[in-house]
Amino acid sequence: MGIFLAALLAPAPLLADEARDKLIVETVLKLENFNYQSASEKVKAAIGRYLARTPGSEEYFQLVEKFRVETELSSLAKLASGDKANPRAAGLLVSIGGEPAIKTALADAGPRRSRLLMSLGTVNDPRPVASLVSLLTGRDPVESRASAKALTGSPAGQLRLLELAEEGSLPDKLKPGVSMALSSSVDPAIRARVAKVLPSPASLGGESLPPLADLVKLSGDPEKGQLVYMRACFTCHKVGEKGIDFGPALTEIGDKLAREALYTAIIDPNEAISFGYEGVSIEVEDGRKLIGYVASDGEREVGVKVPGGALVTVKASEIKGRDALPVSLMPATLVSTMSRDELVNLVEYLITLKK
Ligand code: HEC
Repeated sequence: MGIFLAALLAPAPLLADEARDKLIVETVLKLENFNYQSASEKVKAAIGRYLARTPGSEEYFQLVEKFRVETELSSLAKLASGDKANPRAAGLLVSIGGEPAIKTALADAGPRRSRLLMSLGTVNDPRPVASLVSLLTGRDPVESRASAKALTGSPAGQLRLLELAEEGSLPDKLKPGVSMALSSSVDPAIRARVAKVLPSPASLGGESLPPLADLVKLSGDPEKGQLVYMRACFTCHKVGEKGIDFGPALTEIGDKLAREALYTAIIDPNEAISFGYEGVSIEVEDGRKLIGYVASDGEREVGVKVPGGALVTVKASEIKGRDALPVSLMPATLVSTMSRDELVNLVEYLITLKK
């Protein structure tokens, strides 16, 4: 332990307890080879008090992750059961506590269980996937649906859902929702398998679209179009403060693209891929496969922005393979999830998005 740390632990009447805990935490976070497991009870207690005061903060997650603080499992479970999915809390719960922690968290979640399921669904790891699959095939229909939805949240979950569909054990009533979710997966291989085993439930109306030249002459209702945006685009694009930050923001898209280009962007995303958003598929040594685009490309670390808007950093030395995706990260199947009129209304809405 550093001399500095020892000095901090000595009686220091000038520092209030809270401030002293904070200093201790800041110090141990900086120490390269500080060993939490063998740290003194005093240091542990200071860290414990600090964690109890700051659940969910950046330092909280850093500390829990770095020192694998097992006493925080129930607090992580609580964080993962909040109103918004919390991939970080759920990820730590799984990596520190493993299967037993998942079981306990589910048993204790009470009315917040479906929230917890959503958070667990974002963790790209076989353990939460196995728990979710067992709930999916269980008796409770609400839980079954919630688990299916949660499983669409990670590549490992998506693959498992496809396998279930291929071996005929995905319950029929879950098929439309799973098909919708997976046919807009950013992974082209998943989209191709979905098209085979879970064909799109609604090529809405089944009507074929008029040629572009005719489409651009139609006018629509922007308010109805906004609803289509909320349903089909919101999960990847921001408009102002609303929406998820994955694809380019559409806040001023009406200034950037004319009507015809907007139609093309939706009907055929592969036609022109925005600079900086070219898709990659990255294989990591630990078996993970990341699909997204490279947001920062350093010599030591690569930051990959993945669907849902999270930024995942991987050490360059741990990357096994890196392939450019042949197609856009924006699925080309979106247009088959809306009727012709919905498409026209959507474009009318996008036109209104100007400075
Ligand atoms: C799965 C995520 C995803 C979904 C869902 C999605 N997009 Fe995209 N979109 C992207 C990505 C990534 C790009 C950038 C790559 C590209 O240009 O192909 C993009 C690009 C665009 C562009 C070009 C933006 C520019 O600045 O040039 C437009 C316009 C667009 N999307 C509109 C939509 C609309 C409208 C919807 C809903 C019908 C939608 N997107 C749904 C991911 C998505």
